[in-house]
Amino acid sequence: MIDGKAKSGALRALAAGMIAGWIAAASAPAAAADIIKGNRIYTTHCAVCHGASGLSVMPGAPNLARGSDRLMQADVGLLASIRGGKNAMPAYIGVLTDREILDVIAYLRTLR
Ligand code: HEC
Repeated sequence: MIDGKAKSGALRALAAGMIAGWIAAASAPAAAADIIKGNRIYTTHCAVCHGASGLSVMPGAPNLARGSDRLMQADVGLLASIRGGKNAMPAYIGVLTDREILDVIAYLRTLR
């Protein structure tokens, strides 16, 4: 038998749990980019022009290793270039998701 006091205590505990849940959900960080997946995507889609280690193998394709100045821009800028393509570089919209492109960008930033 639940008396009034126990019932309100249970409701309070339930409400506190819900609020804690909302706070946890609201403050959860965005999932970090996955460089292991990025490496796989790079090897499949990008290495043919930009080289396995980021040293270009196609004339006109910039090196992405060795502190490439092309990488001196925010992820959103690189995302736009890769998503939409740039001159001789094909567009990856519809081929890779934004999440996958962000994974490959994180991988590019590890190239030395
Ligand atoms: C067919 C060859 C080719 C492939 C495949 C290719 N690229 Fe490129 N990429 C280029 C060329 C050429 C440029 C230079 C474009 C320009 O600035 O004229 C370029 C430029 C870039 C840049 C610099 C963009 C900027 O804003 O200056 C990045 C970053 C890049 N590529 C990443 C990638 C990634 C990641 C992939 C795989 C998902 C990829 N590329 C696949 C040829 C290619």
